[in-house]
Amino acid sequence: MEEPFASANAEAEIVRLTEGAKKVHWNPVDSTFFDLLIPPTVYPPRHDSDLLARRISYLGAGRGRNFLEIGCGSGAISILAASFGWKVSACDINPFAVAATRGNLELNCLQGDVREGGIGPEPFPFEQQFDLIVWNLPYIPLEEAGEDFLGPMEEAALLDTDSVGLAGRLLTSIANEDLLAPEGRILIVGRKCTNLGAFGFAHRTWDKLSFDDGEELYLTCLWKPFEGASNQYVEETGSTNSDLLESGGIGSHLRAGRQLAGKGRRGRPWTSIEDCYAGSWVVAENSEISPGNMQLAGGLAVLDSLQHESLRLKWPNDILIDTRKVCGVLAEGRSLGDGTKVVLGIGINLKNGDNDLDIEIASVDELLEIDAARLDITLHAEIASLLEERNDIPSLDYNGIRERVLEHMRNYGRPVVNGIIHDSFGINENGELILDDGTIIDDGEDIEWT
Ligand code: BTN
Repeated sequence: MEEPFASANAEAEIVRLTEGAKKVHWNPVDSTFFDLLIPPTVYPPRHDSDLLARRISYLGAGRGRNFLEIGCGSGAISILAASFGWKVSACDINPFAVAATRGNLELNCLQGDVREGGIGPEPFPFEQQFDLIVWNLPYIPLEEAGEDFLGPMEEAALLDTDSVGLAGRLLTSIANEDLLAPEGRILIVGRKCTNLGAFGFAHRTWDKLSFDDGEELYLTCLWKPFEGASNQYVEETGSTNSDLLESGGIGSHLRAGRQLAGKGRRGRPWTSIEDCYAGSWVVAENSEISPGNMQLAGGLAVLDSLQHESLRLKWPNDILIDTRKVCGVLAEGRSLGDGTKVVLGIGINLKNGDNDLDIEIASVDELLEIDAARLDITLHAEIASLLEERNDIPSLDYNGIRERVLEHMRNYGRPVVNGIIHDSFGINENGELILDDGTIIDDGEDIEWT
C-alpha cells in the first residue's frame, strides 16, 4: 500500500500550491455569510464544519471568553466564533491554513491570534486556558484512505493515523497542558468514539449528521466531570454509600480501598475482596426522577468503562461474566425537602484471590488488567457522561439510557415469571421491567432469564 506522507505526494502538493486560491461565499447558518479565500492544500468548510458552526451559533454570544480552534483550515469556524464575540485563538499545522485564517479574519474585519502548530510532538502553540476548545477532527482511518493520496498537508486534515486516535491525543494534551478553563467545554466533530471516558473527560453527543453512504458524524461535547464537587479516596470506611447519604452535595464522589460494612441490595452485606473497586456518587438532589433510572445508568457506566464484549448486563444492576457476578450497583434514595437525594454505589471485583465468600464470583482480571485508581478516573467520567446536569451541556437522556439497557437485556435473554417466558418486554419511566402482559417487575431477583 502506498503511504500518504511519501515524498512524491509532497512534490505533487507543492506543484498544486501554485494554482491560486478559491473564493468561497460560506453560508453556515440562517442569513450569515462569510467570504473566504482558500489556497490549495487548505480544508474548505464542508458539512462537518456546518455542524460545528450551527452548534457554536446556538451557544450564542461569546462575551469575550477565550475560544480555541485546533486545525483551523480556512478559518471558517474561527471567523464565525469571532463574529459571535469570542476571543479567538486558532492553530493549524499547515502554514498555508495559518495564512488563510489570518487573511480571512482580516477580510471579514474580525480578529484572532493564529499560530502554526497543533496537538503533536512539538510544544502546543498556546499556554492560556480556554472556555471553548473546538476541533473538526481528521477522522478517516488509514485503512479507509484508498490508494490515491492528495499530499501530506491535505491528508493531515483528513486522516487519523494516531496510535491512540486524535480525540484521545487531544484530551491528553488538554489535561497535561491544563488548557481548559474552569467550567470550560470541548466540542469535537468526527466519528463516534467509544473510549473518551478513559481520558478523564465526561462526554455527551450534542448533534449528529447522517450521510447517504452510511457515514455518521457526531458533534460531542466534553467537560471535566462534576467539576467543583468533592472527590475523595479513603483507605477504609464503613460504606461509601452511607457516607455520601450522610453528607455530600451533588456530584460528590467517594472511593474506598476497603469497606467494613459495604451494603448490597435487599439489605444484604457487600463484602470487599482483597482487590476490589468500591465507589459512590451523589447523582441527584431534589430530583423527581426515580432512582431506578440512575441504577440503570450505573450499570452502563461500568460497561462503558471496562469495554469488554464478555461482560453482560442483567437488569437492573448486575454485571456478569457468563453467569457469575463481577459487579453490583446500588442506588439509594433519601427524602430531602420536596425531592430525593440519590447516591449511586458501584462495587467491582478486580482480582479474585483467596476469599471466604460462599458463592462463586467473577473478577475483571479474567478479562483485562486495570487498577482501581485508573478505573476510578474512567468511571467518574462515564457516570458524569450519563448523569451530570449542567445548563450549558447537552441535556440528560433517560430515554436513551433505558433504550441501551433494553438492548442489553434483549441480548441477555427473555424473562421467565411463574414458568411463563415473556418474548417481549420494556422498561418504564421508573426503570422497572414491564412484561408483555402488563406485569411490572421492580426487582431483578423476582425473575429468571432464559
Ligand atoms: C448489589 O447487591 O448487587 C449491590 C452492591 C453494591 C456495592 C457498592 S460498593 C460501593 C457502594 N457502597 C456500598 O456500601 N455499596 C455500594
